[in-house]
Amino acid sequence: MALLNILRYPDPRLHTVAKPVVSVEPRHRTLIADMLETMYEAKGIGLAATQVDVHERLIVIDTSEDRNQPLVLINPRIVWTSAGRHVNEEGCLSVPGIYDGVERFDAIRAEALDADGRGQTIEADGLLAVCIQHEMDHLLGKVFVEYLSALKRTRIKTKMLKQLREEVRA
Ligand code: NI
Repeated sequence: MALLNILRYPDPRLHTVAKPVVSVEPRHRTLIADMLETMYEAKGIGLAATQVDVHERLIVIDTSEDRNQPLVLINPRIVWTSAGRHVNEEGCLSVPGIYDGVERFDAIRAEALDADGRGQTIEADGLLAVCIQHEMDHLLGKVFVEYLSALKRTRIKTKMLKQLREEVRA
């Protein structure tokens, strides 16, 4: 297994639209293992392939307290959403240190393939529902800060670029 480099906003590659996985192959198993390792190491609860510069529809999630219930969604699609929506505080491994409110459906039902290529249906509410919606946005090339005002986004961009410059210098 290997730790993968996580793209950081405003890297333009984060805006790539991912392609469906045609068939689950051995390279996907390696990718899934590496993405899970990378997500756990970064203390995140979700990671989309887009964030590690692989532009296929694949996400990994673990919202469990003990960090031992990995969920793999390949070619996910949302087939039902609740009427209710709420604003939740979100963060993202591609936008470290930034947290802000985004409105999401309270509950969803998603269909996807699992790591073995078998169909699965996920009924989600609470944090898991928010996380799936956030990660699926990544597959469409969308980062959560794009829901915020233009002013906030500009500030976040400036802050991220400054962080990167300081890291390069260090
Ligand atoms: Ni994210």
